[in-house]
Amino acid sequence: MVNPNTPALGSCRLISALLSVLVLALVAAALPRATPAQATPAAAATPPMGWNSWNKFGCNVSDKLIREIADAVVSTGMKDAGYRFVNIDDCWQVSRAADGAIVVDPERFPNGMKPLADYVHSKGLKFGVYTDAGRMTCEKRPGSYEHEVQDIQTYASWGVDYVKIDWCYAEGLEPPVQYAKFRDAIAQSGRPIVFSICNWGVKAPWTWGPRTGNLWRTTGDISDHYDRMSVIGFSQDGLEKFAGPGHWNDPDMLELGNGGMKHDEYLTHMSLWAILAAPLLAGNDIRSMSDETKSILMNPEVIAIDQDAKGVQGHRVWDEGPLEIWVKPLADGSQAVGLFNRGESPLQITLDFNKIGAPSSAKLRDLWQRKDLGTMKNSYTAEVPKHGVVLLKVSK
Ligand code: GAL
Repeated sequence: MVNPNTPALGSCRLISALLSVLVLALVAAALPRATPAQATPAAAATPPMGWNSWNKFGCNVSDKLIREIADAVVSTGMKDAGYRFVNIDDCWQVSRAADGAIVVDPERFPNGMKPLADYVHSKGLKFGVYTDAGRMTCEKRPGSYEHEVQDIQTYASWGVDYVKIDWCYAEGLEPPVQYAKFRDAIAQSGRPIVFSICNWGVKAPWTWGPRTGNLWRTTGDISDHYDRMSVIGFSQDGLEKFAGPGHWNDPDMLELGNGGMKHDEYLTHMSLWAILAAPLLAGNDIRSMSDETKSILMNPEVIAIDQDAKGVQGHRVWDEGPLEIWVKPLADGSQAVGLFNRGESPLQITLDFNKIGAPSSAKLRDLWQRKDLGTMKNSYTAEVPKHGVVLLKVSK
């Protein structure tokens, strides 16, 4: 038998080990390079919160409006509640200069964007803009196609913290390819810009979004109607596996306070978005919102569900006709549970603790009433209004 420790065999082993390392290095070099993660995951560790101009103001945006909104975010308490971004949507841009630089509407934004960004920052808030990956924005303003790097550099020079990138006039273009250009440009800019992909679910952005942006729209546009809001919100089941800290499914911005839904319907809107760990971008005129709207948008216990550090998107655990139960696991081991009635009359819903893996004896808190319901055994039954919700926190 040969002694395995003989010097001759030892050097053979060394050479073969070196060869293996060399082969591995060559194979690694030949493999396609791993796609980098999105540019700034830390900027969206929890779902982004803020305000966006589109749902209420459409193209009617201006320097004056944005300054007043920034003031109102602070004076109404929205900032303290967690809303940080003040985002201008479509229509701030009018043309391109000879060198390709984007031109800001000089009538609506006479000071340009940098002083406006500075103003928003001076309030302790963050500033966002909108563009389009195609040739034009949906409102036919210049798109960023073939200006991806130039535009991101411009935004970074203004101090932009958030960019929403739409998908109009993008015929023949591939969303994952085009959006990756912005991701790389953001990384190059060195600024931690939150990247919001807005291509309405085209080509399943949840499959490539997590390695590209911080959030991606999953559907077409929301409107201020219960039917549209609920179709979008309740269709998110199954997408939960794609979301997590730094990268979120986006079922579109909030319509809360715009007047098209009833009180219970807005409670459903906010509850569902919180359970979905959805970005919370208010879309109303917060300069003049009612106390009712404030109490929904700023309920700290509901916001805490949305912003929970575990970063798990909730999902449907039960349904029967128009009744649905959705659950979101939370960092402290408890669960947020939404009992939703999509029907046209008040109905009872029974939450069976077994079904959500809760102990047979569990503590319940009603998050809209902001009241402890006490310890319950095995199940809890609530009457839920038409189009309404009972939002609970269930813990040991
Ligand atoms: C849509 C987008 C809306 C809004 C609008 C502006 O494509 O989904 O959220 O940004 O364009 O034109």
